[in-house]
Amino acid sequence: MNILEMRGISKAFNGVEVLKNVDLTIEEGEIHTILGENGAGKSTLMNILTGVVPMDRGRIIFRGQPIERPTVPLTEKLGIAFVHQELNLFPTMKVYENLFLTKEPTHRLGALKKREMIARSRAFLEALGVEIDPNALVSELRMGQKQLLEIAKALFFEAKLLILDEPTTALNNEEIDRLFAILRRLRDGGTSFIFISHKMPEIFALSDRYTVLRNGAFIAQGRVAETDAEALARLMVGPAYTGADVYRRRTLGGEALSLDRLSGPGFRDVSLTVRKGEILALTGLQGSGSSELMQAVFGALPVERGSISVGGKALAGRGIHAAMKAGIAMLPANRKENSVVPDMTILENTYLSEHTLSARRPHISRRAEQKKFDALKKTLNIKAESSANPVLSLSGGNQQKVFLARWLNTGGDILFLDNPTQGIDVGSKAEIYQLILSLAESGKTILINTLEIGEIQKVADRCAVFYDGRLIKLLPHEAIDEHTVMMYSTNAVETMEA
Ligand SMILES: Nc1ncnc2c1ncn2[C@@H]1O[C@H](COP(=O)(O)OP(=O)(O)OP(=O)(O)O)[C@@H](O)[C@H]1O
Ligand SMILES: [Mg+2]
Repeated sequence: MNILEMRGISKAFNGVEVLKNVDLTIEEGEIHTILGENGAGKSTLMNILTGVVPMDRGRIIFRGQPIERPTVPLTEKLGIAFVHQELNLFPTMKVYENLFLTKEPTHRLGALKKREMIARSRAFLEALGVEIDPNALVSELRMGQKQLLEIAKALFFEAKLLILDEPTTALNNEEIDRLFAILRRLRDGGTSFIFISHKMPEIFALSDRYTVLRNGAFIAQGRVAETDAEALARLMVGPAYTGADVYRRRTLGGEALSLDRLSGPGFRDVSLTVRKGEILALTGLQGSGSSELMQAVFGALPVERGSISVGGKALAGRGIHAAMKAGIAMLPANRKENSVVPDMTILENTYLSEHTLSARRPHISRRAEQKKFDALKKTLNIKAESSANPVLSLSGGNQQKVFLARWLNTGGDILFLDNPTQGIDVGSKAEIYQLILSLAESGKTILINTLEIGEIQKVADRCAVFYDGRLIKLLPHEAIDEHTVMMYSTNAVETMEA
């Protein structure tokens, strides 16, 4: 039986049609993936279903009843919960308060005693297998914990249809496995899920059926068991898709960046030399220290011991400004927390870092900026109507591309990219890998921190695997494969050798 039917949904923003006559059917007790490139209209379709934005045309039937005019309170009451792509928690409130903020009358704040709310939150989180203290402030949680809390909030509300828009971007592999086990259990109990993800392995591990959108139009629907990743990528991207290997071996230059027994919060005694033009991947399970190391070298986290040199010269001073002056640029992970300046336009967001760096230059030419932006927009395939629009009018993946452009713009010789393809579709990922390789060919040194082994294989000359704050293995390009990287990142090698 179908729990949801959306028929002929159309929507335009400022005269631009972003959904054209789209159909979507969700069965009871299934996990249904919506696939599509960045800007294809996935989040917008979900915003229409839940009443966040109004549709121009179309019909919605939920559990046999038409929803004439969806609004957020109405669809929540009907049992539709939406876990947004960007987190929606109240950072200054406690975990249990966020849980009880759901609109169900029996859960209303105040109707329940504080102690009881805490006890119920604790029992619920424990039953889910989520390790979060109900009394903690949301702002104190790790990114992965916040994401799990956001999902727990929707589950707490006992929805019949749950929408998960890229729910795993901040989760480590273990957290993902645990989340998926919970989702499967609920699915088997009859709950339906709409799942949006750009990670093919997740789609195949979790979902029963799929719907593909391209440029706001319905393209295909089917059973996941009857297709493969290549075929889905082709449906999403169209005939232009190529999954070809992009890696090219290059001649590397002299020493670009060198770390000597560097220690800081989350990492210890890391020594490493990266050559000019090299692409070095850093990887490890979340908490392995690789991201913290990057942030510390960039000056965003303190260094406790050890030294950093750039081009053979010790880094003068500490802090982000000193790092940027030495030619280091960094794209941080988790765009919502670290990158988006929501009140600014796309163009202003793009130029933020360059302006910080060149604060002494009073006049910056709008025209020159626009010209450079247009070039980057083309290279990165950014889907935006006008660079004067607010950055939040972009789809999630296109926001990520703007931040990538921001750092490419600073002209730094050493680029740190922390989880750069978060939320980026398969087609654009391939373009970004090409771009990383050509930047390296032009002499840029690139460090990329990622959990995606496929990504490492495509671009990296070497891969530094971290475990528990230490660099435990440097693998050359030929030795990078799923099995080897996992062995070292879980420290299975040492356990076996011991
Ligand atoms: N509030 C808005 N104002 C103007 N344009 C918008 C708004 N919301 C979405 N759009 C546009 O609608 C199109 C579809 O965006 P949507 O967010 O649905 O894409 P998506 O498929 O979720 O992509 P992604 O994978 O990058 O998250 C994009 O071109 C986007 O810029
Ligand atoms: Mg989206």
